[in-house]
Amino acid sequence: MSPPRPKPKSPSEPAGRPETLGGWLAWAETRYAEEGLALGQVAADAHDEALYLLLSTLGLPLDSDEGVLERTLTRSEQAAVEKALGRRILERVPAAYLTGEAWLGGHKFRVDPRVIIPRSYFVEIIPRLGPVRGRIADVCTGSGCLAVLLALRYPEADVDAIELSKDALEVARANVRDHGLSKRVHLHQSDVFDAVPLARYGLIVSNPPYEPTAIVDGLPEEFQREPRMALDGGADGLDVIRKLLDQAAHRLESGGRVLIEVGGLREAVDREFSELKPRWLRTADGTDCVCLIEGFRLARGSGRKGRSLPEGLERPGTASSSRPAAARGGRSGSTSAGKSPRSRRS
Ligand SMILES: C[S@@+](CC[C@H](N)C(=O)[O-])C[C@H]1O[C@@H](n2cnc3c(N)ncnc32)[C@H](O)[C@@H]1O
Repeated sequence: MSPPRPKPKSPSEPAGRPETLGGWLAWAETRYAEEGLALGQVAADAHDEALYLLLSTLGLPLDSDEGVLERTLTRSEQAAVEKALGRRILERVPAAYLTGEAWLGGHKFRVDPRVIIPRSYFVEIIPRLGPVRGRIADVCTGSGCLAVLLALRYPEADVDAIELSKDALEVARANVRDHGLSKRVHLHQSDVFDAVPLARYGLIVSNPPYEPTAIVDGLPEEFQREPRMALDGGADGLDVIRKLLDQAAHRLESGGRVLIEVGGLREAVDREFSELKPRWLRTADGTDCVCLIEGFRLARGSGRKGRSLPEGLERPGTASSSRPAAARGGRSGSTSAGKSPRSRRS
């Protein structure tokens, strides 16, 4: 049995309450370090996260200048920040669940424990994507953040936002409505494409659960507070990715593409899906963990024995059914440790 953890100090002891916002910030940074809080969901460091939590709790603009740190807090403001910091530090509640919001690509999204806190690499990738012909799918939409970013990036496109969790879809619905996109972003409760009406897509984007189960089991408490199904990709992390690539073959327009964020599974994806020749897109932190797969390669790979097309669909770009069926690389079954926890990108 592990030794009991010493009871953390509450904000009001031992040196008394700080009076200024800067005092609370310094106090919070110290306590974050002493308690070894996990970061990466809202900000990469304790200063940024605590400042965000304080400003947001006090209803102050997030782009306030440094002078705001001199502000003396009223008694009720002190009580509010004490409560928020207590829940973050003592109870390990992620800051975004305390504020009920998260920012991605300069846009605000509602969040609560029904959805993972948005921090996808797609925030870097979506603005760099070229023209897309036809419909777009965001598979594993969670809060709907990527479906919203895609709909804003492609104002002519309809976007299907697909999510297995009914609870998460309710959050997505609110976010889509907040952004005035209810007419173009269509929500579907579905296990990947199982229950989505037949359609062809010019682009399929997905940030699926991709952490191997054993990694999720060992994540810090803050990350365990996110929905497990948002993180856990099965024994080797590839469960949803496999299903998505199988089904995407029958869902793409000719010339369509699939983009998937895979975290630490790059090697595993290269190994298992070598026939699909995944191309890895550059990300600012050098992890380059979003792959692009061209639809015509999937169409070939999907022709392997035993697979049948959903009723009403023909394979894209494969008018000749005599095209050889290329088997995908064998499933390794090995665990490629995810670079976890997924950490923040804004
Ligand atoms: C990593 S989160 C991504 C959420 C959002 N796209 C983002 O980037 O913040 C993965 C989401 O996939 C959902 N999910 C898990 N398995 C799924 C499945 N088989 N089909 C559809 N959605 C699934 C989870 O509920 C979760 O909301």
